[in-house]
Amino acid sequence: MSAAYASVDDLRRAARDYLPRMVFDFVDGGAEREITLRANTADFESLRFSPRVLTDASQVELGTTLLGEPIALPLAIAPMGLCGLVRPQGELALARAAKAAGIPMALSTAASHALESVMDAAPGNLWFQLYIFRDREFAKSLVQRARAAGYRALVVTVDLTRGGKREKDIHNGFTVPPRFTRRTAVDLLRHPRWLARMAPHRGQTLGNLVGWGGQDSNVVALSTFMNTQIDPGISWADLDWLRAQWDLPLLVKGILHPEDAREALARGADGIIVSNHGGRQLDGAPSTISVLPRIADAVDGAAEIILDSGVRRGADILKALALGARACLIGKAALYGLAAGGEAGVMRVLAILRQEFDVAMALTGNQRAAAVRADTLLA
Ligand SMILES: Cc1cc2nc3c(=O)[nH]c(=O)nc-3n(C[C@H](O)[C@H](O)[C@H](O)COP(=O)(O)O)c2cc1C
Repeated sequence: MSAAYASVDDLRRAARDYLPRMVFDFVDGGAEREITLRANTADFESLRFSPRVLTDASQVELGTTLLGEPIALPLAIAPMGLCGLVRPQGELALARAAKAAGIPMALSTAASHALESVMDAAPGNLWFQLYIFRDREFAKSLVQRARAAGYRALVVTVDLTRGGKREKDIHNGFTVPPRFTRRTAVDLLRHPRWLARMAPHRGQTLGNLVGWGGQDSNVVALSTFMNTQIDPGISWADLDWLRAQWDLPLLVKGILHPEDAREALARGADGIIVSNHGGRQLDGAPSTISVLPRIADAVDGAAEIILDSGVRRGADILKALALGARACLIGKAALYGLAAGGEAGVMRVLAILRQEFDVAMALTGNQRAAAVRADTLLA
């Protein structure tokens, strides 16, 4: 992996060159006018540090704990579906890179690879992300499989009662079922490196769902079936139901309101993930960094808060910690690395974020990731 990749933005450019337009847009795009997608990064950029000097920056401790486990950096990889479309190794490569960097990864229900194979590839601090399906028995069986395989936390995603309207995907025919046109064929042919890597792996699938509802491993049939199974009727009672199924840490992902944070914790969640799904769902939802202070006030130290959506820099991680998060997740940033260089590319992204976080910690006068000063940002 070339050392010339100095930032996540550099890896994004490499991903855009490497991936067919339809796959890049699936990874990179947001819902509707992408107002929230832009706000996620713009609102991080608008925050300013209030640096302190002469604090002895010779020993900056970047490691911390999350859900009771030591982690090397206050970061984890977000759950993402269909990573096998970016590189055939998909989630296996992401999990190996996360393990090498000493951070957790959450595996999506809609992952290309089955949860057992991912745990085999990178045994360690893996979390499983669940969508609650209409077929509760199947949802329950996924939870049991995750427990049996050794997953250490369950993440339930609650912001998908409808699929967000991602217009780039519609234009590109990247829909369920897909719409193949002359344009998509030309798009694929213009990305021969991607095509050559994918060709021997034509059997794309949704590894966790194979066999469900009488479906075989055909990715189109499985995705179509999964879409009919997304339950728009989920409510707080389902969180109670899930809590009863799972005895390890439970995180609720997709919280943007302080009252919802309180309710989730009152019902037994161990932590919350402040997320707008990377701007892929409700366009016009607030950026996560803008609502974090109110949510942190409401939680008042009673549980750990994780934040995702828009994290592209080590400085963003520090900004989130200063406003009350314990750690951040990265979604797209990890996939840019995966596209650009497979497992080594993901490791490069994690190394870049680690270095930037260290610089931001030292230059703001912070010494420990576990105890970032609240006055790290200008009021
Ligand atoms: C390609 C892609 C697929 C995703 N699939 C899922 C998913 O299956 N489950 C889920 O909870 N979130 C999913 N997400 C959202 C991420 O978990 C995360 O919330 C988001 O990517 C964070 O924003 P960022 O991409 O700006 O870092 C997906 C995101 C991307 C980019």
